[in-house]
Amino acid sequence: MFCGCFAILTGDRPTGKLHLGHFVGSLQQRVIMQDQYEQYILIADAQALTDNFENPEKVRANIQEVLLDYLAVGIDPKKSTIFIQTMIPEIAELTLYYLNLVTVNRLLRNPTVKTEIAQKQFGESVPAGFLMYPVNQAADITIVKGTLVPVGNDQLPMIEQTNEIVRSFNRIYKKDIFPEVSAVLSKSSRLPGIDGAAKMGKSLGNAIFLADDADMLSKKVMSMYTDPNHIRVEDPGQVEGNMVFTYLDVFDTDTQRVAELKEHYMRGGLGDVKLKRYLIDVLNGLLEPIRKRRLEYAQDQEAVMRIAFEGTEKTREVANRTLCEVKEVMRLDYK
Ligand code: TRP
Repeated sequence: MFCGCFAILTGDRPTGKLHLGHFVGSLQQRVIMQDQYEQYILIADAQALTDNFENPEKVRANIQEVLLDYLAVGIDPKKSTIFIQTMIPEIAELTLYYLNLVTVNRLLRNPTVKTEIAQKQFGESVPAGFLMYPVNQAADITIVKGTLVPVGNDQLPMIEQTNEIVRSFNRIYKKDIFPEVSAVLSKSSRLPGIDGAAKMGKSLGNAIFLADDADMLSKKVMSMYTDPNHIRVEDPGQVEGNMVFTYLDVFDTDTQRVAELKEHYMRGGLGDVKLKRYLIDVLNGLLEPIRKRRLEYAQDQEAVMRIAFEGTEKTREVANRTLCEVKEVMRLDYK
């Protein structure tokens, strides 16, 4: 079962509660992989601060929320090591050394960074800390010598950039300290928002959160984008681009039933409300046990924080060992 040869490193920015996009993108994957690999999951508070430095309370509060989400979906602290990024100063130090191996232009060309810079409307005033966060992320992954990274596909440019740094480092300091890294993508690594936008996102206002209660879920599904031309029940409707069907394809295991519903919808005679009620049932089946576990864990916030502290302590030992090796080859091993 347990194989010590591959370490997994993955994580999220604590800037909000986790949603169904996170769930299908990587959370599900992490729950499965924790049985087979040594898995580290970081709560990337330093990275969250790169675009929330004026809002430390937000990041602080969301550490707790993300932790609860992890535990609620079934990340088991006995199998996975959860830790807090800034509590490992070795990551910050390694980032500093990596920064010598990356050019500003390369960072500006990183597609995910580029998109975010546009979204956040930094204009000419991109904070240096934000621009270099992929380098920080390379340090996150390599500090535990991670080889597998379960993430959504928006993170692929980070993996690529990490591998460039790994190769440069090993070549320049003449020792293969770091292994190359591979992303682990799930079948449906990108879930569109309930409004039909390409991506579900907290800041886009189109997300269904794992912590949403049944009423909220129902409200959100009822507002979902379907087929704007499907006005009367008896009209034939379109399945393509209809978010209810997109979600059923992802979440309903009864594929036979989904095929029948599609056929009925295209023929006409299946109303949006009835269809949406069906999706609500499917999603409640998935989310109800998650909500229940979340509420249970939330009863004892201190115990939840302790899980992160214990994970951090364990990670720190590994991080320290890696940094010693790094400093040795960089001739920073003063004695
Ligand atoms: N960049 C990820 C996000 O936007 C979070 C993250 C930070 C991460 N460090 C990581 C993911 C290392 C995987 C591996 O949520």
